[in-house]
Amino acid sequence: MNNFVFSIPTAIYFGRGQVEKLGGIVRRYGSRALLVYGGGSIKRSGLYGTVLARLKESTVAVTELSGVEPNPKIASVREGVRLCRENGVDVVLAVGGGSALDCAKVVAAGALYAGDPWELVTEPARIQKALPVVTVLTAAATGSEMDAFAVITNPETHEKLGTSGQLLKPRASILDPALTFTVPKRQTAAGTADIMSHIFEDYFTNVKGAFLQARFAEGLLKTCIRYGPAALEHPDDYEARANLMWASSHAINGLLSCGAEVAWSVHAMEHELSAFYDITHGVGLAILTPNWMKYVLSDATAPKFAEYGVNVWGLDAKQPARTVAEQAIRKTRAFFSSLGLPATLREVNIDEKNFKIMAEHAAKHGLENAFVPLKADDVLQIYRASL
Ligand code: NZQ
Ligand code: ZN
Repeated sequence: MNNFVFSIPTAIYFGRGQVEKLGGIVRRYGSRALLVYGGGSIKRSGLYGTVLARLKESTVAVTELSGVEPNPKIASVREGVRLCRENGVDVVLAVGGGSALDCAKVVAAGALYAGDPWELVTEPARIQKALPVVTVLTAAATGSEMDAFAVITNPETHEKLGTSGQLLKPRASILDPALTFTVPKRQTAAGTADIMSHIFEDYFTNVKGAFLQARFAEGLLKTCIRYGPAALEHPDDYEARANLMWASSHAINGLLSCGAEVAWSVHAMEHELSAFYDITHGVGLAILTPNWMKYVLSDATAPKFAEYGVNVWGLDAKQPARTVAEQAIRKTRAFFSSLGLPATLREVNIDEKNFKIMAEHAAKHGLENAFVPLKADDVLQIYRASL
């Protein structure tokens, strides 16, 4: 296990009705909030009214940045920065899924940065100051509610890039599983695939001796496998939504990567799909993941895949490692299909036109340090196998 620093400043308010505390929580950090949200789901659910009422009670003045799109665009960030400056905003409150949260995080840093906020995405080291961020999460998927990352798209350059920094971690996040009852089925499935992918990205590491992290990972994967289908079948199953929500936070808050760091391969490949075709992140991951697994499977990696098969899927450990590994990969694909997620890029209207350029972009994201190092040509082959 490698050395590591683990520090999460985010206070989590978990459970039904925790949003009632929102006013007091936000007031701890400021009195003029920028409320950041998406395309209207919070208005349809009634959460918007509750949020405004709680902020008003606590004398928090509110400026709104609405209409943040899935795969948030840099234009929304720029608009948020402008609103912060014009209104003397001192705390940023995101209410929504990962897209609203990610946009809010870069707005918070951009408000205190003299240059264009896109520079904070391309060069994370420029994030030296940020307004405090508070979140109310409405969809379990990205883990943005408790992590250091934000992913922003620049449609002009076809780039979807992740930035990160300790200052981007929310100060407080409200996680009420009941707020996710209204998440549509396809989004619930995509969110489950996203959580699982975050876990896989850290689980498949070459760092030896991180036994505890691997067992945490397996527990989180089993949680997704148990409760993803349950949430699809009964959207208002509180137990299912609660377990998925808590899994989403721990999948990417650093717990699993501590001492077992590795470059993330499938996310680098998926972000290119979203950058070029604006597809749902978790859908792209579900299509690519089993194909990545097949591509990197070898006699050298088979024992790790077999460990996954035995500990997560309950496969028979007495079989040869390669056999268990292949079964585990088939189980993974079958699970995503059982959630109703597509298995091929053609199903989401992607053909091979941009594969070469996307592969070249993806390979630039440190993939030489991945579980199995990948070059642009390897990525190209994984895209082709995913058609
Ligand atoms: O925009 P609204 O109207 O709110 O609707 C959203 C959106 O259409 C809807 N939704 C969210 N909560 C809902 C709901 N609909 C009904 N009821 C609710 N309670 O769901 C749709 C998708 O929302 P979005 O925020 O885009 O989804 P998600 O949470 O999956 O976030 C995806 C973004 O996060 C990035 C992805 O790349 C993508 O841009 N990621 C962020 C990461 C991070 N910060 O650490 C890591 C991830 O790997 C990922 O890259
Ligand atoms: Zn993800």
